[in-house]
Amino acid sequence: MKAVLLDADDHYRVAELDEPAPGPGQVAIRVAYAGIQWGDTMVRDGHFPVARPFVPGFEASGHVVAVGEGVDASRIGEPVTALTMAGAYAEVVLAPAVLTLGIGELLPRTAAGLGWGAPTAYDLINTAAQVRPGESVLIHAAAGGVGTLAAQFARLAGAGRIVGVVGNDLRADYAARFGFDRLLLREAFPAELGEEKFDVILDPVGGSTRHAGLAQLAEHGRLVAYGNLGSYEPVLANTNDLLMQGKSLVTYNSNLLSQTHPERLADSFRRALGHVADGRVRVDITAEYDLADLGIAVQHLAEGTTHGKSILRVA
Ligand SMILES: NC(=O)c1ccc[n+]([C@@H]2O[C@H](COP(=O)([O-])OP(=O)(O)OC[C@H]3O[C@@H](n4cnc5c(N)ncnc54)[C@H](OP(=O)(O)O)[C@@H]3O)[C@@H](O)[C@H]2O)c1
Repeated sequence: MKAVLLDADDHYRVAELDEPAPGPGQVAIRVAYAGIQWGDTMVRDGHFPVARPFVPGFEASGHVVAVGEGVDASRIGEPVTALTMAGAYAEVVLAPAVLTLGIGELLPRTAAGLGWGAPTAYDLINTAAQVRPGESVLIHAAAGGVGTLAAQFARLAGAGRIVGVVGNDLRADYAARFGFDRLLLREAFPAELGEEKFDVILDPVGGSTRHAGLAQLAEHGRLVAYGNLGSYEPVLANTNDLLMQGKSLVTYNSNLLSQTHPERLADSFRRALGHVADGRVRVDITAEYDLADLGIAVQHLAEGTTHGKSILRVA
């Protein structure tokens, strides 16, 4: 089969490899499309150490071609979307059966766009922050895959005011399609917010942004830390102050959840998929690349020249 390898020199190349066979609890999927996400830039740049050469690719759509021990054989032929641990930039990928969901009539192209971002955005709003009707929500990286989905899930949860933070005006125009009441440029955060406080802040940025976010929380507010786009500097919070103000700093880690409680992640993935399938939530695919162009695709993501969701066409 054709697959894309990430080499030790950070270059991607198409190679011919043997098709993998599913082990216990796994399915093999013939890949139609694979989703591209921020994790690809982190793997390329060494923030997730993996032995090279390595076939990346963490989300795929396609159909099941084989099942491992303990997996219902009637799944063979099922059109699916899956969260994978690696290997989705290839014609065949292995995925845990529990994280492989049937997509029914949903187009494989759309289904590939859900990826880890969909259960993550769902969980940030509903599980980690537990947004209540009327609450205000501030979303950083608002024009990205997770940001655009989180705004929609927040609206479905009954959020009141939703404010997004983006890198530039073009990205603000794009994010405006997803229900934000206001969009703010990154350099204007937090100064332009003045005394405005938020019940919930979604923070994949870290560093000074996280510090500023804690100050911008309303009483009983929750800041969910779920990434380090801007900085890996440790952020220290005074828990006595947080306690007196009833503020909470919560974290969310879907990768860890997939290992400790995969059925919980699957449940959120299924709920997110249901909202996309019934049209209440939109996965916006704005860029599609050939297998051989993965390097260009990841570079575009890293440089911020794309918005919404990018996918790779495999079949
Ligand atoms: N914890 C988890 O379980 C989990 C799961 C999935 C994703 N994530 C994290 O969620 C974040 C977004 O992922 P994604 O897949 O939605 O990515 P994406 O679609 O590639 O979007 C990345 C976003 O980050 C923004 N950004 C880039 N550099 C930034 C910086 N220095 N400061 C602030 N914003 C910056 C970009 O837009 P602007 O330039 O407009 O701000 C863009 O909207 C990543 O940090 C990823 O690791 C975490």
